[in-house]
Amino acid sequence: MSIKTVAIIGCGIGRSHIVEGYLPHPDKFRVTALCDLNVERLNEVGNEFGIEKRTTSFKDLLADDSIDIIDICTPPGIHLEQVLDALASGKHVVCEKPLTGSLKGVDRIMEAEKRAKGVLMPIFQYRYGDGIEKAKRIIDAGIAGRPYVGSVETFWLRTPEYYSVPWRGKWETELGGVLVTHALHLHDMMLHLLGPVASVFGRVATRVNDIEVEDCASASLLMRNGAFVSLSCTLGSQEQISRLRLHFENVTFESSHEPYAPGKDPWKIIAANETVQAEIDEVIGNWQPVSPRFTTQMAHFHAYLSGNGPLPVTTTDARQALELVTAIYQSADTGREITLPVGPESPKYANWRANTR
Ligand SMILES: NC(=O)c1ccc[n+]([C@@H]2O[C@H](COP(=O)([O-])OP(=O)(O)OC[C@H]3O[C@@H](n4cnc5c(N)ncnc54)[C@H](O)[C@@H]3O)[C@@H](O)[C@H]2O)c1
Repeated sequence: MSIKTVAIIGCGIGRSHIVEGYLPHPDKFRVTALCDLNVERLNEVGNEFGIEKRTTSFKDLLADDSIDIIDICTPPGIHLEQVLDALASGKHVVCEKPLTGSLKGVDRIMEAEKRAKGVLMPIFQYRYGDGIEKAKRIIDAGIAGRPYVGSVETFWLRTPEYYSVPWRGKWETELGGVLVTHALHLHDMMLHLLGPVASVFGRVATRVNDIEVEDCASASLLMRNGAFVSLSCTLGSQEQISRLRLHFENVTFESSHEPYAPGKDPWKIIAANETVQAEIDEVIGNWQPVSPRFTTQMAHFHAYLSGNGPLPVTTTDARQALELVTAIYQSADTGREITLPVGPESPKYANWRANTR
């Protein structure tokens, strides 16, 4: 098993990638380079972790043969360009959410992946943790039975101070609001557990802060498996919680309410009867604890790079989450139910701001 060298671009959440994603795996990764346009921040993080190579030039990193993985943690508006450049350089690429701001952009990335020597792994770290992974195993084993109804709640708080960072709150640079930046995680968890969406009715509004993008949204989904799911999100909740509650024929699941790690235990996993409980015990009885968030996503990434497992999160996963965003925006604009899949025929395919009324 070889140690992969990593360069991180963007030292905000990039610092959490170091702490949670790479440092816990010294036998798998070494962060050898940092890039940020903010030199003070670059040096602060570089000094904290003893990372010697520091640069303000992304292109410098792409030309550095000693780097295996480019980990993109910059503001959303530049992800597309940086992902395409990093893939063209032949390196492996990790990219923070949102991967980009349109399905057209995702499809361009998918085309580039076909020609690339390296692989791209989008970040969806909320999929990892004991609670969600137990639920996934029970559902995949066929124990939960027919899905009935689910609700997914992203009730967070963002104040004017948060929006004092210039790229936030604007279409051009953040690419969207609560649906794109915050609730995307919970929506990915739901898609990971329940599979694809068939149709969507959605509403969006900007109510909490004086920003361009939406900060409240609500949507009613019909899943392809027949379940109904309601999504509800706001950045104006005075108590921050994240919560999924999924009702199946044989099992009800409820996530922990921890806002930024709802995949962690404790999850409520409520069996319909003793027989179902025995089946659940059979599949998760000798559960080996897993770390939440980046720690496990990066461990799986290394396993993939070493030929020992699947790529844990793919561009198809990112596309599915952004397709849902596209459908909600289109429904909110038109007042109509939108049927998936969403492709180039959609007025919102290339641009979420295109007027479809
Ligand atoms: N997965 C998660 O839980 C999570 C949490 C927070 C943020 N994010 C995502 O991570 C990304 C960054 O968010 P953040 O909160 O860290 O933002 P941030 O503003 O705190 O940090 C971004 C950094 O990128 C640097 N930067 C900007 N343009 C650059 C360029 N061209 N080259 C090099 N550096 C550049 C900035 O100077 C800044 O230090 C966003 O896409 C955001 O949605 C994800």
